[in-house]
Amino acid sequence: MDKIAIIGGTGMTSLRNLEIIRREMVQTPFGEPSGPLTHGVLCDVEVVFLARHGYGHTIPPHRVNYRANIWALHQVGVRTLIAVNAVGGITDSMTPARLVIPDQIIDYTWGRDNTFFEDGKSGVVHIDFTTPYCEQLRQVLLAADASVGLDLVPAATYAATQGPRLESAAEIDRLERDGCQVVGMTGMPEAALARELEICYASIAVVANWAAGRGEGAITMEDIEQNLAEGMQNARVLLEQAIPMLHAAPPA
Ligand code: HPA
Repeated sequence: MDKIAIIGGTGMTSLRNLEIIRREMVQTPFGEPSGPLTHGVLCDVEVVFLARHGYGHTIPPHRVNYRANIWALHQVGVRTLIAVNAVGGITDSMTPARLVIPDQIIDYTWGRDNTFFEDGKSGVVHIDFTTPYCEQLRQVLLAADASVGLDLVPAATYAATQGPRLESAAEIDRLERDGCQVVGMTGMPEAALARELEICYASIAVVANWAAGRGEGAITMEDIEQNLAEGMQNARVLLEQAIPMLHAAPPA
């Protein structure tokens, strides 16, 4: 049976209503994932949960072993994956604590292991990435919102930056000129790796703060934590609506 998984980001190291069945340490040819995979039941559906930054939130975005995470999930049968990513809001409608379902991505990261096809053993592989997120999964998330009414933003271009520092105001201006509406540090290479293994992947981006130069003054961790507490609660509501829908009608 194809499985559904959730990768939790900053502000979501566990799923409160998940009835945990077991934890599984998975070894991969690319090293260890961020932690054991948590198998459990959410709203009567079996799911797998993984905390991207580790269960104690100790792994920074540029050090996450994205390949091991995606490989491990694929190895246990995951074919549908919802990522939860904290982001900064660049444009007016990307207000703190709001949920956004990105439909495009621009990769500004560097030096990350970003492919499973590194050594060319399976030939030179160029995956199609025209539509970086699985449109069927995005549509399920949007349909779930139609029931719970969280007023999420149905499309946006996600700028994936290297971190771990936040951006300068000029960097955010540049991202906006490039057409980005939200900025985060974990969207890539995760989305591309999922595509390489043909996992249907979409993201619930949770706005943690106004991006640099868009709010008043400096970005503080207090603000981020407060907005994430609200936003992640909404992300849980959306997940609990979407997961049974996905189980009933899995993306093809
Ligand atoms: N920039 C990059 N990544 C982020 C931000 C931000 O402002 N907020 C949360 N993740």
